[in-house]
Amino acid sequence: MDAAYKKSMEPTKRRGSMYLEEETNKKSEVISCIFSLKEEVGALAKALRLFEDKGINLTHIESRPSRMNKDQYEFFISVDSSSSQALDEVIDGLRTQISGHVHELSRNKKKDTGECSEKIAMVPYDIQDLDRFANQILSYGSELDADHPGFTDPVYRARRKEFADIAYNYRHGQIIPRVEYTEEEKATWGTVFRELKTLYPTHACREHNRVFPLLEKYCGYRQDNIPQLEDVSRFLQSCTGFRLRPVAGLLSSRDFLGGLAFRVFHSTQYIRHGSKPTYTPEPDICHELLGHVPLFADPGFAQFSQEIGLASLGAPDEYIEKLATVYWFTVEFGLCKQGSEIKAYGAGLLSSFGELQYCLSDKPKIMPFEPEKTSLQKYPITEYQPVYFVAESFDDAKEKVRKFAATIPRPFTVRYNPYTQSIEVLDNTQQLRNLADSINCEMGKLCDALRKLE
Ligand SMILES: [Fe+2]
Repeated sequence: MDAAYKKSMEPTKRRGSMYLEEETNKKSEVISCIFSLKEEVGALAKALRLFEDKGINLTHIESRPSRMNKDQYEFFISVDSSSSQALDEVIDGLRTQISGHVHELSRNKKKDTGECSEKIAMVPYDIQDLDRFANQILSYGSELDADHPGFTDPVYRARRKEFADIAYNYRHGQIIPRVEYTEEEKATWGTVFRELKTLYPTHACREHNRVFPLLEKYCGYRQDNIPQLEDVSRFLQSCTGFRLRPVAGLLSSRDFLGGLAFRVFHSTQYIRHGSKPTYTPEPDICHELLGHVPLFADPGFAQFSQEIGLASLGAPDEYIEKLATVYWFTVEFGLCKQGSEIKAYGAGLLSSFGELQYCLSDKPKIMPFEPEKTSLQKYPITEYQPVYFVAESFDDAKEKVRKFAATIPRPFTVRYNPYTQSIEVLDNTQQLRNLADSINCEMGKLCDALRKLE
């Protein structure tokens, strides 16, 4: 169902403490680069001399203290694209002559074009960085395919544009704008809500069934009311720290998964077309609120989802595709064992009346969840899945994804710091010392609590 995770990846390149970003906007043709320097007299002058020696004209430069290392400064510069090749040489100079600590994360040439142009993307380090990534959409949310049920409905299309505009203008920290849903939209929601609710007690996993009544009590989950994203996001934050942010259109898998690393879930706010309440070719608010949200309120599942997100940061494209497939067969279409039964926990199942019954029938093929194999499984997007994967438990799935993530070729380890809401790259002794101190402190509390229990 979720085409959002299906689109091919943007080729990326980052170079250790330097990141490049080549904008695709043909009008500007600008290449931007961030590099970090140790704080010492003359370091910037030396760096700028490298640009001067190669005849590169900087069109923009700004600096800030490095978030990764307090002894360093980061410099953001822009040059025009004609300097692309010379910039490569300057970067080599920066790495070998000045910056010292550099590693290359991924680098992919656009082989299909025959050009040597390279597109480079930055990794989000801070939760606010998602503002930039969230609008790198592959298509705007109001652009419908010809076979979309709302394609010929001008009112629906105008409505979709309103929702896309809300998301496009949204920035981290703002209240998600409340939406007055129309009677027709509420009727569509009501149909989906009523039908699915009859299946949950027998088909949904116990985590979903535990949270659902809380959503009814605190977030306005009712047949005659479409809950507001802001209320649901606040509820999730109080349960697991997960939050919602509206999304204006189709995100690449890399950007979508990157959000999960920060416990941010990109959510649609529009609803499917009223002519077909039981069908949607794309995620809509029924899918997000009925399928995803209950599970994100579960601590074990929230952590499992974040693990997938963290594994995606800086991963090579082929691994992003594998992680997106693992995501598909777990968060979207996962089944899990509970006692002697199998239950659904995937959002694509929990938001589809038809597929929720089908997935637990004897028609589809059921296989054990093994990330190495699951990540290679092909799947259809707009029909019922022919294959599902069953996890032993969320904990077991989390452990398996963690081991799978360790096979991703990355020369560094990342960790999310919930206090600063940022990603830490564990690549220097200071970072490791901080982590050891933090673990030490937690271990002290654990031992103390155990003693008191005895
Ligand atoms: Fe989804």
